[in-house]
Amino acid sequence: MPSEITVKTALAEASARLSGCSDSPRLDAEILLSHTLGVSRFDLLTESGRLLEGEVCSRFRSFVERRAKAEPVAYITKSRDFFEDTFYVDERVLVPRPESEFVVETALKLLQHAEKPEVLDMCCGSGCIGLSVLRVVPCGLTLADISASALEVAKINAERLFPSGQAINFVKSDLFSEIPGDFDLITANPPYLSAEDMAEFVNGALEYEPENALFGGETGFEFTERLINGAQKHLKPGGFLVTELGYGGEKFAKEKKYRLKLAEIVNDYAGIGRVAVFGRD
Ligand SMILES: C[S@@+](CC[C@H](N)C(=O)[O-])C[C@H]1O[C@@H](n2cnc3c(N)ncnc32)[C@H](O)[C@@H]1O
Repeated sequence: MPSEITVKTALAEASARLSGCSDSPRLDAEILLSHTLGVSRFDLLTESGRLLEGEVCSRFRSFVERRAKAEPVAYITKSRDFFEDTFYVDERVLVPRPESEFVVETALKLLQHAEKPEVLDMCCGSGCIGLSVLRVVPCGLTLADISASALEVAKINAERLFPSGQAINFVKSDLFSEIPGDFDLITANPPYLSAEDMAEFVNGALEYEPENALFGGETGFEFTERLINGAQKHLKPGGFLVTELGYGGEKFAKEKKYRLKLAEIVNDYAGIGRVAVFGRD
């Protein structure tokens, strides 16, 4: 490649480079170039004839090469859009997925008439679920994770989204071991891949993500079962647990007996049971 090229040519070349290694080569190329230039994707369209200087070109190419080795775009740009905000992310946390927005939507519906509810986001990672809830509903928020480094990322996001300060409780805890008090609502996106899933799917981009954010036990459901049973002791009467489900999770949620009652399964746009709501009497 020549060292000086236009936006249009850079995008075409990067899309071709990524076509064998990404499901969305053009989109990845656009996000990486807009990140390199500090402009929006729309600006790339209107400035397609803009010439990229040598140094900018090399930076963009180094990003494209990282992506070609399967690194998630979000770790390269250190950001990911989720629900109504942009979150800081890096290798310490799972990259927030669009499916998890169903957890936020379900939580917001349940909190519609609540007054100053107490909310716990268990397995918070970047904090994307709990902080998205707090952006809409004034609540007492606790963010919990077993990983101290994930909590550092959640703190970065809390400071960015609430620059004038918000009293958020950050707790390093193995599930509920260190959780003080009771909550009106508990949200969670627990690790839910099985041993078989880990062997089959954890290559490429997933290999960059923290293993404890992915592995849910031999069948994938063991962690979720501990979560559901543990939540019972930390919900106020009438409170709810809203948890994301992995593949086959709906059947598992319906067939097993727990200390909490299954109240609802929420389907995603593909009609797959994606979120389970459990209630405490
Ligand atoms: C699937 S990720 C979800 C992260 C974030 N909530 C999201 O939706 O992007 C699961 C998170 O659970 C945390 N985790 C794993 N085992 C845990 C445990 N025993 N107790 C608390 N958190 C745990 C991991 O560190 C990881 O951040």
